[in-house]
Amino acid sequence: MKAVTWHGKRDIRVETVPDPTIQEPTDAIVKITSTGICGSDLHLYEVLGPFLDKGDILGHEPMGIVQEVGSAVSRLTPGDRVVIPFGIACGHCWMCSRGLYSQCETTQVKAEGKGAALFGYTKLCGQVPGGQAEYLRVPHAGFGAIKVPEGPPDDRFLYLSDVLPTAWQAVEYAAVPAGGSLAILGMGPIGEMCVRVARQQGVERIFAVERVPDRLARARALGAEVIDLEADDDVVDAVRERTDGRGPDSVIDAVGMEAHGAPLEATVQAVTGLLPDAIQAPLMEKVGVDRLSALRMAIELVRRGGTISIIGVYGGMADPLPMLTLFDKQIQLRLGQANVKHWVDAILPLLLDGSDPLGVDGFATHRLPLEEAPHGYQTFQAKSDGAFKVVLQP
Ligand SMILES: NC(=O)c1ccc[n+]([C@@H]2O[C@H](COP(=O)([O-])OP(=O)(O)OC[C@H]3O[C@@H](n4cnc5c(N)ncnc54)[C@H](O)[C@@H]3O)[C@@H](O)[C@H]2O)c1
Ligand SMILES: [Zn+2]
Ligand SMILES: [Zn+2]
Repeated sequence: MKAVTWHGKRDIRVETVPDPTIQEPTDAIVKITSTGICGSDLHLYEVLGPFLDKGDILGHEPMGIVQEVGSAVSRLTPGDRVVIPFGIACGHCWMCSRGLYSQCETTQVKAEGKGAALFGYTKLCGQVPGGQAEYLRVPHAGFGAIKVPEGPPDDRFLYLSDVLPTAWQAVEYAAVPAGGSLAILGMGPIGEMCVRVARQQGVERIFAVERVPDRLARARALGAEVIDLEADDDVVDAVRERTDGRGPDSVIDAVGMEAHGAPLEATVQAVTGLLPDAIQAPLMEKVGVDRLSALRMAIELVRRGGTISIIGVYGGMADPLPMLTLFDKQIQLRLGQANVKHWVDAILPLLLDGSDPLGVDGFATHRLPLEEAPHGYQTFQAKSDGAFKVVLQP
């Protein structure tokens, strides 16, 4: 089959690799019809190289048609239309029974001391072959795969794999009080979907912080009060002025480890990136730092006693954080990988609603054949050509 493979920093290829096969009775093989490129994939493309091997298959936002099932998978039959969550969970362990699917004790990557395995996301997350491919082996498919009806186009359901439950969790964790305000940093697919979900849940005052003009325009069109990181010298003041001088009740960081505006940390990341992998990987795991400008802004911005929900991915083990401010402002912090299946029942009715209240049908800006994945990654990273959400169609 054809698959998108990683070969180095900004070096993504489409190669012919062996077809996946059933390895466990709980597996299924899915023929992929649509598969997203995520902001998380950009971290692999740019800074997380030391945790990948050449040839690793990327991708964790797939959907398609069940091709074959293992003997223990009774809930699925070949021909079913399914969306595959980005995290792999068994559905019945201690963590799963509490809805903490991203901490599943059956799939935890214990050798690395990490949480549940993810598709296509480094050795730290289990090095499971990903879903930017013609076929995907889905472990624990009987629990994980989300069955969706025939009829609407793939775009209607595709984002159940990641963007929708991730944004949903971010908004839940932000715990905006009734009548309260929410600031969202980063208007990529995740941040924008947070705007859509928060609107849907009745949050009236939403501030959207971003620097890419067409992303700001999209957020404005959704009714958010946009703040241009490039034009406003002081984002914190600009939002405070509009929130009785206190700041928003809640802030979502939808930016993560490659935030713009952290020159010193960017240099450390870049220098670490020049070392040989054998030195780089342990160094990044022990003393690695993230570019923290978005998180620092969140801490400054949120009102005293407010909540910060971090949904952007961070990976540094030695990040310096302003503990004095966090403590003094009595900030509540919630974060982590999305527990995808925990939110699906709440989201699905909105996708089955013909009026498409979350606007998923028009969410993608680029649809490309799998062969054009390298171009897709490049355009999405550069945010050129209006690239906002890129969907590959094998
Ligand atoms: N926790 C989870 O389960 C989960 C799931 C999916 C994605 N993510 C993470 O969410 C983050 C966003 O994903 P995405 O697909 O929207 O990616 P993206 O890269 O398209 O979006 C990030 C946006 O942040 C903007 N930005 C950069 N620096 C900023 C700053 N200092 N302040 C405000 N905005 C800034 C960028 O211009 C960009 O538009 C990534 O870190 C991704 O890894 C987490
Ligand atoms: Zn993702
Ligand atoms: Zn489990």
